[in-house]
Amino acid sequence: MGSRGLFITLEGGDGSGKTTQAELLTEWLVTRGRSVVRTREPGGTEVGDEIREIVLHHRGDIAPRAEALLYAADRAHHIKTKVRPALADGQVVVQDRYLDSSVAYQGAGRVLDAVQVRDLSLWASEGLLPDVTILLDLDPASARTRLDGARTRYDRLEAEKLDFHGRVRDAYLALAAAEPERFIVLDASDEPAAIAAAIRARVEPLL
Ligand code: TMP
Repeated sequence: MGSRGLFITLEGGDGSGKTTQAELLTEWLVTRGRSVVRTREPGGTEVGDEIREIVLHHRGDIAPRAEALLYAADRAHHIKTKVRPALADGQVVVQDRYLDSSVAYQGAGRVLDAVQVRDLSLWASEGLLPDVTILLDLDPASARTRLDGARTRYDRLEAEKLDFHGRVRDAYLALAAAEPERFIVLDASDEPAAIAAAIRARVEPLL
C-alpha cells in the first residue's frame, strides 16, 4: 500500500528556529522510510524565489495589500506546481511558513483584515490546509537577540520594530487557539532536541 501524503508546516517569528526543526524532522522522516519534500514560502519555486527577492529585499515601500498579494501569488504557484503534486504522490511535505504567516504578518503586523487575508490565501491555494502546523513560540525580544547573533543584515520584515513582532506573536497564538486540532505550540526557547522530540511525537501517529 502506498503512503498517504502529509502536509506539515512550521510557523513562528523570525529567529524561532524553524529551519533547524524542519531539518531535524526531515532527517527523522527519511529514517522512517518516507520520501520528503522540504520547501518554504516565500520561495520554493523559481517564480517564488523571484517574488521572495521582492518581498524581502525591495528597497522602498510596498503597500500592505500589494505585499499580501505578492505572498499570495507565490503561494498559488507553489501549491499548484510543487506541494499538491508531492502530496498526490504520497510524499511528506515539510514546509517553512504557509498561510498562517500571512494572517500573522500581513493581518496583525500590517493591520489588514485577518479574515480577508486568510480567504485570499485559501483562494490562492484552492483551499489547502496543513495536516499539522508546528508553531515555535518565542517572545520577540529573545528572537531579536538570536537574530542579532546570526545576521549581518535584516530583511524588510525582520527590520520591523518590536511591537510589530509582538502583534505577530499574539496573532499566531490566537490562530493556534482557534484550531487546536491542527496546531502544536512549542516553546522555542527549549532545547532543540526536546522540541524535535515533541514534534516527532505529534507526527508519528499520522505516518
Ligand atoms: P524567512 O523565510 O526567513 O522565514 O522569511 C520570510 C519572511 O516573510 C518572514 O519575515 C515572514 C514573512 N512572511 C510574510 O510576511 N507573509 C507570508 O505569507 C510569508 C510566507 C512570510
